[in-house]
This record gives sequence, structure tokens and C-alpha cells, in this order.
Amino acid sequence: MCPLSFPDDPTPPPGEGGGEWQPLCRSTDLQDAGEACPFDVVYGGQTCRAFAIRYRGVAHAYLNRCSHVAMEMDWRPNHFFDLTGHHLVCGSHGALFDPASGRCLGGPGRGPLIKIELEERDGVIHWRTQYNLKPVSFGF
Ligand code: FES
Repeated sequence: MCPLSFPDDPTPPPGEGGGEWQPLCRSTDLQDAGEACPFDVVYGGQTCRAFAIRYRGVAHAYLNRCSHVAMEMDWRPNHFFDLTGHHLVCGSHGALFDPASGRCLGGPGRGPLIKIELEERDGVIHWRTQYNLKPVSFGF
């Protein structure tokens, strides 16, 4: 479960700023303003839910953690867009976020969503690890 608070995102230590691309889903799995693709990450040492969406043709991903209270945001499993299809809405208290940037646009949110870098290549969407953002390891 995501911790209630995360350390600020300081500049990564020297030599640890690079990332690796992790396959996430097929490009066709994400429809504009449609259902999200969920995935798990380790952020700040804690396993967290994350999600990828497509907005105006571009795929974006965020930690599934509201900036108001550290709760998952989907109002129905994997549904984040409001009825206009132009905002992400938190199902708990209605904070609105810009799908392209994660910036808070209204409601009780206290800042932007935490964005995860994506890339589409050969019909596959990949997310990028960071020094504080890693894939879940099952330790087998
Ligand atoms: S937890 Fe998201 S608006 Fe309150």
C-alpha cells in the first residue's frame, strides 16, 4: 500500500538519474479518454498502484495517489476521466486534474499528480524507471 506521504523528489544522486524502459501494455489498450491500464510500481520503497491513460492521442501515466489524501483515485476500477473526458477526477472528494500534465485544476487537491514517463514504440507502451521509481520485484 502506498505510504501516506512521500519524501519530496530531490534531484537524483549522481549516476542514478537514468532509467530503464519497462513494457506496460499495447498501444491499442488505451483509448482516448477511456479506461486506464493499471500497473504496480515501487515508489520511495513502497509498492503503489499506478495507471496509464490516453488523452488527445498521447499516453500519460501517474501514480494512483490523490494529492488531497493519499488514496487511490478511480471512481470505478480503472476509470479516472470525468464525464467531459477532459479531466481526471478523484472518486473520493472530486479533485480535478489535467490528464496531460497531472496539474490540479480544482477541488481539494493539494498539488499535481506524480507523473511517470511513458514512451510508445512499435505498438507497445513502456514506462520509465527512476532512482525512486522501480518495477515490483517478486524476489523469486
Ligand atoms: S482524496 Fe482525492 S479529492 Fe480527496
